[in-house]
Amino acid sequence: MRFEAGLTAAAEAVSAHLAQVLGDFPAVPVVGAMGYAAGGGKRLRAYLVLEGARLHGVPQTRAIWPATAIEAIHAYSLVHDDLPCMDDDDLRRGQPTVHRKWDEATAVLAGDALQTLGFEMVSHPDCHPDGGIRAGLALSLARAAGAQGMVLGQALDMAAEAAEAPLDLAAITDLQAGKTGALIRWSAEAGPRLADADIAPMSAYAQALGLAFQIADDILDVEGDAAQMGKAVGKDADRGKATFVSLLGLDGAKRRAETLVQQACDSLSVYGDGAESLREAARFVIARRN
Ligand code: IPE
Ligand code: IPE
Ligand code: MG
Ligand code: MG
Ligand code: MG
Repeated sequence: MRFEAGLTAAAEAVSAHLAQVLGDFPAVPVVGAMGYAAGGGKRLRAYLVLEGARLHGVPQTRAIWPATAIEAIHAYSLVHDDLPCMDDDDLRRGQPTVHRKWDEATAVLAGDALQTLGFEMVSHPDCHPDGGIRAGLALSLARAAGAQGMVLGQALDMAAEAAEAPLDLAAITDLQAGKTGALIRWSAEAGPRLADADIAPMSAYAQALGLAFQIADDILDVEGDAAQMGKAVGKDADRGKATFVSLLGLDGAKRRAETLVQQACDSLSVYGDGAESLREAARFVIARRN
């Protein structure tokens, strides 16, 4: 399946799976907010899980668990990222942010519960019959999401906003490897993990892809259309934040992103033509308008 059709299929499969899982939860506002927050989005991370799994011969009935898990964790990170104490955003995916639609307490708790839901899903017996494989997924996910991964990146991002001197390129690259890179990398590695195969090629692919993805996010913050993106733009400059664009300029950032996409594609050579949709995914990451 080509990338675009695959992304649509991944989005549908994840939304259906999430609805099914949350259907067993109590009908209380926090659960409503979880479904709201985890609904929508491009589902790129889920796509990477499902496509990486397919490439390694893992059935989708198993891969749907980590695919849905990573979208739950990603949604949690966005709910908290949008809170007044962090980025203070009113709009996400074209809709009011959770703390706007409900309140801050509900947003904090929905984020917390989306995070634990992610771990619940990779630990589910239907994810893999081998408990060792499930534990490996959970351990790597904890590392990717926590204070040596996404949370570290978010903390460095907050610190950079408050700092006197803007970060340099090496520091921004480090920051992003946590903030955006860690969850994208975990997504790409989940397929080979499920197959108990070598994660190195997918890992190299995802490291280049994750960096290109964040450069594109920074470019879209300058050039993007708020309506199309479903979130506010121009916020990085407003906050005086150092980004790939502020450091490299728009053209420089675009060139860097293109080089990274080429690197990502080259990392997949061991898979031959079978990885063509993942190469398309890499090109999509910098061509996207939202
Ligand atoms: C946005 O991620 C936040 C970053 C990590 C830069 P996405 O652009 O993947 O957001 P959705 O899931 O498609 O809404
Ligand atoms: C958010 O980064 C990254 C995480 C939630 C981990 P940004 O703050 O740049 O994302 P947007 O621009 O709000 O989507
Ligand atoms: Mg942020
Ligand atoms: Mg933000
Ligand atoms: Mg951004």
